[in-house]
Amino acid sequence: MKRRQFVTATGAALLAPLVGCGGGGGTDGLAPSTLIPGGGTPSAAPPLPVLPLMAGGNFALNLQQGSAAFLAGLSTPTYGINGNYLGPTLRMRRGENAAFAVTNSLSEPAAIHWHGLHIPAAMDGGPHQTIAPGGTWRPSFNVRQAGGTFWYHAHTAGETGRQVTMGLAGMIVIDDDNMDALDLPHTWGDDDIPLVVQDRRFHADGRFAYLSNAMPDIIGGMMGDRILVNGAITPRASVPAKEVRFRLLNGANARVFRFAFAGQRTFQVIASDGGLLEAPVAATTLTLSPGERAEIVVDFTADAGRTLTLNDIASGLRVLEIGIDRAAGRVTHVPARLAIAPRADEATALRTRDFVFGMTMGGGMGGMGMAGTMGMGFTINGRIFDMNRIDETMRLDEPEIWRVRNVDPGMTHSMHIHGGTFLLLDRNGSAANLAPHERGLKDTVLLSGGDTVRLLLTMRDYPTATGTPYMYHCHILEHEDGGMMGQVGVTT
Ligand code: C2O
Ligand code: CU
Ligand code: CU
Repeated sequence: MKRRQFVTATGAALLAPLVGCGGGGGTDGLAPSTLIPGGGTPSAAPPLPVLPLMAGGNFALNLQQGSAAFLAGLSTPTYGINGNYLGPTLRMRRGENAAFAVTNSLSEPAAIHWHGLHIPAAMDGGPHQTIAPGGTWRPSFNVRQAGGTFWYHAHTAGETGRQVTMGLAGMIVIDDDNMDALDLPHTWGDDDIPLVVQDRRFHADGRFAYLSNAMPDIIGGMMGDRILVNGAITPRASVPAKEVRFRLLNGANARVFRFAFAGQRTFQVIASDGGLLEAPVAATTLTLSPGERAEIVVDFTADAGRTLTLNDIASGLRVLEIGIDRAAGRVTHVPARLAIAPRADEATALRTRDFVFGMTMGGGMGGMGMAGTMGMGFTINGRIFDMNRIDETMRLDEPEIWRVRNVDPGMTHSMHIHGGTFLLLDRNGSAANLAPHERGLKDTVLLSGGDTVRLLLTMRDYPTATGTPYMYHCHILEHEDGGMMGQVGVTT
């Protein structure tokens, strides 16, 4: 609740002189009074949409406008990928070549990024690969990493938060031989269930609210009062009475979810951002910041006929209703050993780089977009994102320690690095402060107020061309859009 206090104390004071400016650039331009409050439990939960799979190595994706009926009787204008809201789950296999045709049928530029994939920077889909309206982008790459749960989403300079809110996101699942050989639940939509978890706020006319309370929505990031899972508000999943695997993706713009089942049900955490952990770890809660993923397995064998709920105990919002109302097909058993996990050996690091996440208020140093208009800038090492500046240069295959500090005790950030996965060494000086899923391969990490996190990162395989670097940034999308992003080049 620290963030709330900060927003109230700082945000309200700063907001005062701005009252009267009205909406405008970047915001949705509607008065907050047109918001319809969330809360209450809907009479009947909609069924959990199962995101369709797309496989085979060739992916034709169309960014398009649409509309969806999230709330009874209201139509919400949306963006989607080959559909109204969100996109298909792209299923790839380690070793296979993946080729894409991404067509932008929107009336605004958009970039689409493959979050967590180890690929050349020119294929990565950051702001340097923005697709003009009507244009088609054709990246291709070899899938080189271990199996796991990844995602793709809009990554358009200054517009990422709004475009993701509108629906430009989807899941990526990578399979590999090791994962296939394990007795894990893997029947898509049956005992292997994707959960793209987001939050949204709505206007009374059905439209998504975006920056409708501009100052706090930028400082704390855009949070909603309703939870969407796979594009439905607090839906109901129907699952078999056996072990069920949930692939959890925090696809929210800014909210940090602390997932827990009602009744403190124990589950096994089996995978982090970058794939399987060495061994399953029992847990009762799981905290994911925006951009992070984890896979968990819950054993419902003895629960036939029951209904359980998955909640976000940080907000008190219900995420998912789970009806254990189907007969078990093939029975599975989570093995005691999952993968050969890479070890973080900090003695191998050749240097340490420091990154300080902070912000500026006023003083003519505003960041991009709406934040800049309001005199705010989100900074890494005191600098606001500049697409024409390479902030760091790494050498290929040289392990480094990145020491990342969130200097503001009242702010939350989420650090994400493109191009390579990393291993966390410690948080606030101790490895004991790392959660189970933080002990596997990561590409995104929570930075709570005042946190210092140290991670071990090696960039492999792909030196970057001049002018086409990898991004690293805060995955709270309003902070990213407000300038909290840097660029790293990789030389041989
Ligand atoms: Cu998921 Cu640079 O983003
Ligand atoms: Cu990414
Ligand atoms: Cu941030």
